[in-house]
Amino acid sequence: MRIDILTVVPELLDGPLSHSIVQRAIDKQLAEVHIHNIRDYSTDKHKKVDDYAFSGGAGMVMTIQPIESAIEHLSKQRNYDEIIYTSPDGELFNQKIANSLSSYKNLIILCGHYKGIDHRVREQLITREISIGDYVLTGGELAAAVISDSIIRLIPGVLSDETSALTDSFQDNLLSPPVYTRPAEYKGWKVPDILLSGNTKKIEDWRHEQAIERTKKLRPGLI
Ligand code: ADE
Repeated sequence: MRIDILTVVPELLDGPLSHSIVQRAIDKQLAEVHIHNIRDYSTDKHKKVDDYAFSGGAGMVMTIQPIESAIEHLSKQRNYDEIIYTSPDGELFNQKIANSLSSYKNLIILCGHYKGIDHRVREQLITREISIGDYVLTGGELAAAVISDSIIRLIPGVLSDETSALTDSFQDNLLSPPVYTRPAEYKGWKVPDILLSGNTKKIEDWRHEQAIERTKKLRPGLI
């Protein structure tokens, strides 16, 4: 899978996508992430990427030209399955959307900034708008990092068997059961006996019950 991220603040994306599992996926050539500075595509002599909103209103609006040029440049090289815009008024991101995006080959993610982007970009160029939650971030970069991370880890071969995405919270609409490690007792705090029993079938059943209990208690809307 290849993800091209368009942003005016590329520095914000350096860290989150160059460590841990995402970096491993990139090293194994299972994923490619390319970060593009929208400013590089501006034909303005000062490399401007925003302007005042027509008829006033607070904040600057990102202009069409640099965004359209960047998307056109990339689209000439390959076909994109989706051109995503990160915005608080998009469709609410969840595991189901992550699963479906992870099967795609090429994605563009356009990060919003300032007060927004010229609406014609959304009407003419964007195929999908995604929000990562009902709150407003300074820009779409963190949202792009969240979306990229959650889909890259789902690409077959990225996770090892032990960390398989199949046992993730939300994968079956249930939260994960609790996990424990050594020591079996710490200052009197004990690991549930069942986990030390060695009875695989009983442990499986216990985990499933715990997943249901935790989901009912913490996220009843998922059931
Ligand atoms: N940009 C600003 N806030 C956002 C959010 N909640 N989700 C996606 N993109 C955003």
